[in-house]
Amino acid sequence: MKTSLNFSWKFVPDFQSAYLKKFPEKYQEVNIPHNAFEVPYNYFNENDYQKVVTYEKVFDIENYNKNRRYFVRFDGFMVQAHIYFNNEDLGNHISVYNPVEIEISKFAKEKDNHLIVVLDTREDKDIPPFGFALDYVTYSGIYREVYLVSEPQTYLRNIYVHGDSKGNIDIIYDKVGNDEINIKHRLLKDDIVIYETNKDQFKIDNPELWDLDHPNLYTLETSIEVNNKKETYKTRFGFRDIEFTKHGFYLNGDKVKLVGLNRHQGYPYIGYAASKSLQEDDANILKFEAGVNIVRTSHYPQSEHFLNRCDEIGLLTLNEIPGWQHLGTSEKWKETCLNNTKSMVLTQRNHPSLVAHGVRVDESVDNHDLYSKTNEIAHTLDKYRPTIGVRNFTDSELLEDIYGYNDFSCNSLKVGLTPKPIKRGNKPLLITEYMGHMDPLRNLSDEQRRIEVALRHAKVINDNYKYDEVCGAIGWCFADYHTHVDFGSGDHICPHGVFDLYRNPKYSAYIYASQQDKTPVLKVLSNMKPGDAPAAVFNDIYVATNCDYLELYKNDEFVKRFEANHKMFESLKHPPILLDDIVGETFKVSKFPPKARKTMAYMLSYAAIHGYGPQMPLRIKLYLAYSMMRYKISYTELVGYWNEYVGSWGGMAKTYKVIGYNSVHQITLMS
Ligand code: GAL
Repeated sequence: MKTSLNFSWKFVPDFQSAYLKKFPEKYQEVNIPHNAFEVPYNYFNENDYQKVVTYEKVFDIENYNKNRRYFVRFDGFMVQAHIYFNNEDLGNHISVYNPVEIEISKFAKEKDNHLIVVLDTREDKDIPPFGFALDYVTYSGIYREVYLVSEPQTYLRNIYVHGDSKGNIDIIYDKVGNDEINIKHRLLKDDIVIYETNKDQFKIDNPELWDLDHPNLYTLETSIEVNNKKETYKTRFGFRDIEFTKHGFYLNGDKVKLVGLNRHQGYPYIGYAASKSLQEDDANILKFEAGVNIVRTSHYPQSEHFLNRCDEIGLLTLNEIPGWQHLGTSEKWKETCLNNTKSMVLTQRNHPSLVAHGVRVDESVDNHDLYSKTNEIAHTLDKYRPTIGVRNFTDSELLEDIYGYNDFSCNSLKVGLTPKPIKRGNKPLLITEYMGHMDPLRNLSDEQRRIEVALRHAKVINDNYKYDEVCGAIGWCFADYHTHVDFGSGDHICPHGVFDLYRNPKYSAYIYASQQDKTPVLKVLSNMKPGDAPAAVFNDIYVATNCDYLELYKNDEFVKRFEANHKMFESLKHPPILLDDIVGETFKVSKFPPKARKTMAYMLSYAAIHGYGPQMPLRIKLYLAYSMMRYKISYTELVGYWNEYVGSWGGMAKTYKVIGYNSVHQITLMS
């Protein structure tokens, strides 16, 4: 049984040994999750939050029973904590990203229990992910929930329920204690019991499968009877099969191209100490706003709330042990790395959304001993999931089941991905990162850059679909994130996100969103304001959309209909649509026959979009000269057309409207 210990803690931002005897009179009352030091949006100093701080929680135990065992469970604190309970020293504990459970049975009492946490938030070179440069910050505080756990003398822990698409269920657990126990399982769907048994392996008929569109979840209630007392544990899981092959990824036998983004879990001000609802929001944004089908929780195990939400909405996940390129040499570093692997697998293996365990430190060098062990741990604790290791080089020793490769070859609109001949035998390949440092983009970057970056994302997604043998590709990254001074451009924000640090979408977010068909998407990748454009020239105007065709209106007058052009993005289902004429049918000067009118309109539009003057292509210049002669247009007349049909910076602002159509939705957008 778990009860919350999350409210009304005392906190002081330092530590003195006298605090162990008497907590300071002047303290702050705080709730968990808690970030020990607020981290500003930008321009902070990472040393400001690396200190030793003290927390105290005083609590009573409801229905206290001295025959039961009691534990305090921390879901996560940064970095390590010395714990004192009712004046007893319960030792030093490392969390970083792992839950820590400490037994307090011997010292617990019914009333007035004092729990003191002396938290050392300093990066420690002997604990992963620390020891060298690190492209993310880890903040501070008891940043995940704290619980009191109560168990009988003999109890179950680490219950793992695995269900496959045929309805087979396998239940694995550890029994702690020596009493004889009777175990019973009840399978529930939507709170209705559909099966009861005392067997740890059984089969049900026609399970409702967990998949991306129907994330059906079941609950297994496991009860034990110890000395005539009943204890019940609930485990949520799903029935589904996952398979990575050298030809692609399969969910319940159906091939699914994985299209995803990497996620860091930090936020401005609160750091990692995000509430359940914020964690859930990120999953919702990824699934419903960006429309992706997988998220890599780079580069560490993330919040249970986030993973639970992924289970509930059908968003696949890929986890990873803490680290970033660096492998520590001390025994303590390695031992912690192995503990991290164990803890991650045990904590996350019930999530149906989880497709593989990332058992290698992101982009680290080969290390036969260490990675043989991390693979073995994951395979032993979870025989149903493959392992993956993420590299930024080819021909690495492949101890995992899947080769994870970061492909940063996209540096223009010509190349998206370059599947390299990677030595991987018959094993599957998953692109685990792309773009990132190749294309930093601040929210205030100029529009041309924002469009270019969005189109590069489109190019990589295109290539992800093009190369059938690639299981999928996961972009760097979901949202901008705080980073160490070595990586930010001075302000400590790494601007690689498809969303910014506040989760506002950049243009690229709409490129992802427009590749799905559930929600209509129509976003003009331009604000159509000449004052924002260099020389008041718009340049290419693209629309991220999943509509079949678009209609453009200017001041409510029809301009032209546009359709997707698959030339540039041949494998995208919904390539961005180029609006290459913003004059079109609004040009109605009667002295031109219809065909010439169209051409004049196109030339005016060309000048508006790409600029007039020497940079115009010769064919346009020649045709303009020809038209002026053929239709007897004076220079003043031409300028008059320009002013009337194009206008420019400083003229009366025009209102553009784009209407998108497809067989399912009709949507309108004003720009
Ligand atoms: C990768 C790394 C990421 C991030 C990214 C930036 O090499 O895995 O964590 O630093 O580069 O592009």
